[in-house]
Amino acid sequence: MKIGVIGAGKVGSTLAHLCTAAGDDVAIANSRSPETLRDLELQLGHHAHAVTAEEAARYGDVVIVAVPFGHYQELPADALAGRTVIDATNYDPERDGHDEELERGDVTSSELMQRHLAGAHVVKAFNAMRWDHLRDYGRSAGAYFRYGIPVAGDDPAAKWRVLDLVEQIGFEPVDAGSLAEGGRKYQPGTEAYAEDLGADVLRARIGIEGT
Ligand SMILES: NC(=O)c1ccc[n+]([C@@H]2O[C@H](COP(=O)([O-])OP(=O)(O)OC[C@H]3O[C@@H](n4cnc5c(N)ncnc54)[C@H](OP(=O)(O)O)[C@@H]3O)[C@@H](O)[C@H]2O)c1
Repeated sequence: MKIGVIGAGKVGSTLAHLCTAAGDDVAIANSRSPETLRDLELQLGHHAHAVTAEEAARYGDVVIVAVPFGHYQELPADALAGRTVIDATNYDPERDGHDEELERGDVTSSELMQRHLAGAHVVKAFNAMRWDHLRDYGRSAGAYFRYGIPVAGDDPAAKWRVLDLVEQIGFEPVDAGSLAEGGRKYQPGTEAYAEDLGADVLRARIGIEGT
């Protein structure tokens, strides 16, 4: 699969490593320029190249967004139209500035991203595990225990693509439902956020039946 990654910091570069290790091709961008990502490009190997954010958006069948949430309005909405976009971000008012709509709880941060990326299919995933745990906690298929990664989204085909990607990179995907209701269950401050749970416990915490 071709994966675009927008944001090349802790989370973006970690997911880029996991995707190339799983056999995917990656185009990764930061806020500055591809030239500033040459070291990362070398570490990632032949299946990855550094590009601009717009190029990463056009490249990916799936595009991972791993920028500080406060920058979501800089995402190239036209280039992302029609794509599956993984929202790995979290709203942090200290870092991102206060947003009244989010603080009232009227809406979730992923819904705001979806509003900005009106033509894309936003799926929330990878936001609820620390970057170094994402890096270290993957297990191969068939392992006795795998950590669960919750996935929420409104477009079934986009969600399936992300459930599959989660599986490929060593975690057990847990379908948490829609972006509005499911995504709310593993935001910062919830019982399913940054807890490193196995899939069964994760399902119980977010209130869904096991499979
Ligand atoms: N750290 C964690 O353990 C963790 C875990 C789960 C989720 N998250 C969430 O994931 C997101 C990223 O966190 P992080 O820790 O990876 O942050 P980080 O290490 O600070 O990296 C942020 C990256 O975003 C890039 N960026 C900012 N604005 C951009 C734009 N408009 N276009 C393209 N790239 C842009 C930055 O580029 P420059 O370097 O050029 O500025 C940088 O590469 C945050 O929303 C965070 O809350 C973090």
